[in-house]
Amino acid sequence: MCGIVGYVGEKPALDVVLEGLRRLEYRGYDSAGVAVVADGSIVSEKRAGKLTNLEKALAERASANDPLGTATTGIGHTRWATHGPPNDVNAHPHLSADGSVAVIHNGIIENFATLRAELTDAGVELRSDTDTEVVAHLLAGAYGMHHDLAEAMRAVCRRLEGAFTLLAVQRDHPEMVVGARRSSPLVVGTGDGEYFLGSDVAAFIAHTRDAIELGQDQVVTITRDGVTITDFNGAPAEGKRYHVDWDAAAAEKGGYPNFMLKEIADQPQAVADTLLGRMDARGNLALDELRMNEDELRAIDKIVIVACGTAYYAGLVAKYVLEHYTRIPCEVELASEFRYRDPILTHRTLVVAISQSGETMDTLMAVRHAGEQGSRVLAICNTNGSTIPRESDAVLYTHAGPEIAVASTKGFLAQVTACYLLGLYLGKLRGDFFADEVRAIMAQLGEAPAAIQQVLDDTSQVEALARELADNRVILFLGRHVGFPVALEGALKLKELAYIHAEGFAAGELKHGPIALVEEGLPVLCVVPPRGRDQLHDKMISGIQEIRARGARTICLAEEGDETIVPYADVLLTLPKVPVLLQPLVATVPLQLFACELATLMGHDVDQPRNLAKSVTVE
Ligand code: F6R
Repeated sequence: MCGIVGYVGEKPALDVVLEGLRRLEYRGYDSAGVAVVADGSIVSEKRAGKLTNLEKALAERASANDPLGTATTGIGHTRWATHGPPNDVNAHPHLSADGSVAVIHNGIIENFATLRAELTDAGVELRSDTDTEVVAHLLAGAYGMHHDLAEAMRAVCRRLEGAFTLLAVQRDHPEMVVGARRSSPLVVGTGDGEYFLGSDVAAFIAHTRDAIELGQDQVVTITRDGVTITDFNGAPAEGKRYHVDWDAAAAEKGGYPNFMLKEIADQPQAVADTLLGRMDARGNLALDELRMNEDELRAIDKIVIVACGTAYYAGLVAKYVLEHYTRIPCEVELASEFRYRDPILTHRTLVVAISQSGETMDTLMAVRHAGEQGSRVLAICNTNGSTIPRESDAVLYTHAGPEIAVASTKGFLAQVTACYLLGLYLGKLRGDFFADEVRAIMAQLGEAPAAIQQVLDDTSQVEALARELADNRVILFLGRHVGFPVALEGALKLKELAYIHAEGFAAGELKHGPIALVEEGLPVLCVVPPRGRDQLHDKMISGIQEIRARGARTICLAEEGDETIVPYADVLLTLPKVPVLLQPLVATVPLQLFACELATLMGHDVDQPRNLAKSVTVE
């Protein structure tokens, strides 16, 4: 949700900033802009639309002595609009009235109307509809008083309400960028004589893998000489230094036509890496990073999972897994609803926050609410150093690598994998599992990457299906048990990528209403549970028969060798054999591919679907 880059060093800032913006564009792509400090002035360019529009504009104005090309200090922004439509004027950076200060911003300044009125009363003419512009004017005013950009930033931040990351440059400081953060992401990259600021490490991964994590309510100054961090009152503060464990190549398409296909293909590795090194020879799960008191964990009497979107569906899978493995009651909550319904939480409740980015504001607010109520919070997160793990009591990292496509794919499978680990860990700790049982399930999990690869090895049937269904405007998804969240996830992928009306239903619920939607020829993708001792499989077949009787065209995803499904499937997609609880790891993959393929056939940009952005850092 808005990508931010800042640079001070020896290289042309514009090149560094544009490269960072290209890597951050997944965070927002309504408009983009840059500003550099050169020869005692600020030079800026910004354009509505994708980054390519800005790049074209920059190419048109390029000349040998254009300071935009030669300056070595700069900032850049790619926007996901909150206040005001995405046009050239509302694009960032925003400059103060005298042009002395340029500001970029991610987040929402909640008291912007009051500040705007104050500025208007003082005779300042505001040019844009944004909440950000007020900061530029306030900052220029504060700089006039303090003659110190960091001090001016601190003074302004103390007046702001809401969530924000801000970067600013000032025309008298050709080698300085000042940043600030409250509840919104900002990391520092440290190079050799060059320093970076970014919404996430992708902004500077091509230049350095050494980063500093900033805390809440901090102001950071980068110059060629180093980094200075303080709180909003000017007290010196320390950031946490860390080394990023992936490189620039991991954040590139690697020969795939888009990031989404690459990330779908990354999934065997993402699952394998999330499992890697997490069990010792004695069958004990080595979840070192948890560092939670084992007595406290044994005393848990309820688990509440909070998450949004795809991560919420991972949470729905986790409910089946955790209750089965631990016998602890588990609720799954949409993070955006959680704190507003006064949830019942005690110190014996374990709240599990699932988030790929670690920055989703709704989830962060749920984490804070849970902490305030005295519950322990465990984050399952893919992004080292992000806010949600930092504000949680413990973290279980997924190791999916950077997820760039806006629609989550490998993030989901890695989250589901981490939930199995958590379930096994709690189950063992509380005496529900013996070490050999844990080892047996871990062995099954260990086979999952190969099973996922098997799905990926032959995608021809899914591609043919996408071609066949490309003209449909309604597609339904059915599942039971852990297949139900898979159906929901399949439908979400199709909605967000292909802009098709897609819904997922629990198969048993259909007859209570949604079956009225079924008409002749309606495509329904059915996630069929593996055959087992329970009745899940047969009940699913009953559901499929009910919709076929009403004309539905059934596309069944069922395990290989399941002959019983053949008479009920207009199209049969086979899945590798896995235990029922692990089926989401293989059954989700064809649905991701289907959505990606169908959207591509329709001519949509699957990496950057309309109206969306990765990492939703506003409530
Ligand atoms: C859908 C998707 C979103 C995210 C949701 C939570 O494909 O990507 O629904 O899953 O915004 O994001 P994280 O996991 O970063 O908290």
